[in-house]
Amino acid sequence: MTQPACYPISEAFAARARIGRDDYQRDYAQSVSEPEAFWGRIAQRLEWFRAPTRIKDTSFALEDFRIRWYEDGELNASVNCVDRHLATRGDKTALLFEPDSPDAPSQRISYRQLHERVCKLANALRALGVRKGDRVTIYLPMIPEAAVSMLACARIGAIHNVVFGGFAPNSIADRVADSTSKLVITADEGLRGGRKVPLKANVDAALKLPGTDSVETVLVVRHTGAAVEMQMPRDRWFDAVVNDQPAQCEPERMNAEDPLFLLYTSGSTGKPKGVLHTTGGYLVYASYTHEAVFDLREDDVYWCTADVGWVTGHSYIVYGPLANGATALMFEGVPNHPDVSRFWQIVDKHQVTIFYTAPTAIRALMRDGDEPVRRTSRRSLRLLGTVGEPINPEAWRWYYEVVGDSRCPIVDTWWQTETGGILISPLAGAIDLKPGSATKPFFGVQPALVDAGGNVLEGEAEGNLVLLDSWPGQMRTVYGDHQRFIDTYFKTYPGTYFTGDGCRRDADGYYWITGRVDDVINVSGHRIGTAEVESALVSHPKVAEAAVVGFPHDLKGQGIYAYVTLIAGEANSDALRRDLIAHVRSEIGPIATPDHLQWAPGLPKTRSGKIMRRILRKIAESGSSELAPEQLGDTSTLADPSVVESLVNERLRR
Ligand code: WTA
Repeated sequence: MTQPACYPISEAFAARARIGRDDYQRDYAQSVSEPEAFWGRIAQRLEWFRAPTRIKDTSFALEDFRIRWYEDGELNASVNCVDRHLATRGDKTALLFEPDSPDAPSQRISYRQLHERVCKLANALRALGVRKGDRVTIYLPMIPEAAVSMLACARIGAIHNVVFGGFAPNSIADRVADSTSKLVITADEGLRGGRKVPLKANVDAALKLPGTDSVETVLVVRHTGAAVEMQMPRDRWFDAVVNDQPAQCEPERMNAEDPLFLLYTSGSTGKPKGVLHTTGGYLVYASYTHEAVFDLREDDVYWCTADVGWVTGHSYIVYGPLANGATALMFEGVPNHPDVSRFWQIVDKHQVTIFYTAPTAIRALMRDGDEPVRRTSRRSLRLLGTVGEPINPEAWRWYYEVVGDSRCPIVDTWWQTETGGILISPLAGAIDLKPGSATKPFFGVQPALVDAGGNVLEGEAEGNLVLLDSWPGQMRTVYGDHQRFIDTYFKTYPGTYFTGDGCRRDADGYYWITGRVDDVINVSGHRIGTAEVESALVSHPKVAEAAVVGFPHDLKGQGIYAYVTLIAGEANSDALRRDLIAHVRSEIGPIATPDHLQWAPGLPKTRSGKIMRRILRKIAESGSSELAPEQLGDTSTLADPSVVESLVNERLRR
């Protein structure tokens, strides 16, 4: 039987959906033709100390560059995420915490309790000298304190900088140093799939590294109860400083364009950059996309499986859902512990209605077959979502048929750390689904495809994805380096924001993201810059040079392939290969672990010394199959063509 290429809108879903087909068409047209009127209206969903009258002032033109939304508005994000719900939803569960082990009790934190916890921590931070505009690094597991910490920073106007709990000390140190954080919030240990993660020890190691002496205080959440070294007077137990604080805390009045948070993300070159998001536009955009894309209802139990260390956790576990007064589930663990039914058992246990995860998780679970899914009910589910990487139609169908029992629409949401929220996605009551396509732009979003020369392509086409105009959730700058912001995103195709993604548009105007076209690798939905892995490899005393590329990987989407040239006189060996791989893990973190490491007596370079990554990508992609010379493309500009031959041969011998 051939599989349908299109799944029409479910009538049952559409009958109750917030946004129907006509609504989408009408509102999209207005959002583009009259953005001020549209986004002015949408901004009323938030509670402002002072309502904005100036809605949009943006230009991507280099000579006149500016991005400002709601610039005379004043608000506080924590007030919107917490206080605002007290009158009507005080006893409603805001955060539903499911711990790593199914034997440990889950916790429900009501909006009222969340308010108290946020206020107490905010008061504690103030007492420790943290002021509006100061940076606070948060390095925590997926526990309620992570959300509480973010909101407490927002309450006093401190800029939070969440660092994913899987990062190694070097990566923490880079982010603490670049942001010159005054305070770090961490835990004794994290717990994932029964394994302990030494968070406090990692922070200790990071803070021994140069550039980190801005840190005055480390707050330590007691989570597993492990014995950790406390360095006085720097280190303080979270509970001890928080418990005696008053349960009310005056929120800071923030301008809409005041920073809300920093989040470091990998790019094509150099070290990760601090993506800066501001308060008003970001919160309007996160909350509105969350409500519209997930068709949110008051009684939903919403679960996004991302980690708060990534932007998905920021926008769609914390800010979007809480600004909407939703019940958001937070899961500490992993999909396959204690067994591969864990996700679906949690869905049943908490009667989850909306479930949002990454294609890599779906592919991994699919490998274990239907039975671990079928043995659970999943009747509560009504909408499924994916994010982080392209989803292959086969995984989409499995998700649809097996997980969703062919009952739940899937929203394949395309966006980026830089965009703050979802930009291209189906609205399940308004747009027919096609497996593998993120479908149509969200309100106010104007995608376009350009060729290498920057010419805009019309109709059915494939090219580089750019955005023609701003949306409220857009990042405002790279922290401390505004020029890098402009150079990275607005210089390639002047007058537009360049996403770094390739994309195809079909005859129905549907968008199909094909993946990164720059030197960013997307491993299991996590962005890793090739330059970061290269510099980790080169920091090893035996390595002279390294080049890193991505290659297609069945489970991870892309894997990491490293070519390494040793310094003269060093002999290669399997032991050294393992050592180098371990070195990358300990420099960056496990997510950057190379899948393959090939010895390269030389790297293919142009006569001007530029590494020809295109050729390295081809060799990496070829697996162990034969590679005819013509498949490598034009090699005439190589300084030394024999280098390529030896790399191909070395590949075949593996
Ligand atoms: C990729 C994650 C295809 C894309 C929210 C983008 C996707 C990068 C999708 C951003 C999707 C994200 N389909 N590709 N639905 N969602 N991507 O900053 O390459 O961690 O540029 O933000 O992930 O990753 P980031």
